[in-house]
Amino acid sequence: MKLKGPIGIFDSGVGGTSIWRAIEAQMPLEHTLYLADSKNAPYGKKSKEAILALCIKNTELLIDQGAKIIVVACNTATTNAIDYLRSNYELPFIGIEPAIKPAALQTKTKSVGILATQGTLSSALFAKTSETFAKDVEVIEVIGTGLVELIESDQIESPEMESLLTQYLAPMKAANIDHLVLGCSHYPYLIPKIKTLLSKEVKIIDSGEAVARQTERILEQHALSYAHEKSSHQFYTNSDPKVISKILADHPAPKSISYKDF
Ligand code: DGL
Repeated sequence: MKLKGPIGIFDSGVGGTSIWRAIEAQMPLEHTLYLADSKNAPYGKKSKEAILALCIKNTELLIDQGAKIIVVACNTATTNAIDYLRSNYELPFIGIEPAIKPAALQTKTKSVGILATQGTLSSALFAKTSETFAKDVEVIEVIGTGLVELIESDQIESPEMESLLTQYLAPMKAANIDHLVLGCSHYPYLIPKIKTLLSKEVKIIDSGEAVARQTERILEQHALSYAHEKSSHQFYTNSDPKVISKILADHPAPKSISYKDF
């Protein structure tokens, strides 16, 4: 068992850093190693087979680098590949799925919105979760086409972003949603903008904290938790490191961010 190894985390790009933030907050003395596969973003438009091949590549690199657990910090990758990863590798995997269940349990208007990628919304796992937990609720599903590309190219504050979000939230507003589920780990970075476009009554839910708590539980169950005196946080990106540096600029933990060809 690699007790002292890092928590491995991967995403199709910089979005999974929203999950990394929650993990670092929950377990500040664990080492982390994050892969941003930005060169291959977005995963959401790719076939299941293509997504699986990318997940295998990321998993093997994290294992080579000593990861003791892998957090698939991408809804699209989780919904399409987690079963395969769990049955083909020995270490534990944590996945991330749209938080439809809490939204469906808490809604008063009986109408909830979900913004996610095409790959997530068309997956069998998402269909099963919706069928199990949101049978009696109207779920307004919208594909966030173009949002990941704008985040990956440092255009969160752009007029294009505002216009896409206005368009995507319109059918949700018309359906009187009271919960919006962010079904893509990139989207928490859009919360400040989304809040200006929706009524204050709408609760925005993402999965970061739940994933961090689950990661801690599974590490404890496998006797893999470790408190280093000082934690290290390594980020590898196969695209321009400036984008990830900027997205994490407000986070105080010391970190190393570098380019790697993978
Ligand atoms: N962060 C990924 C997710 O959670 C992004 C999707 C993509 O690359 O299309 O789904």
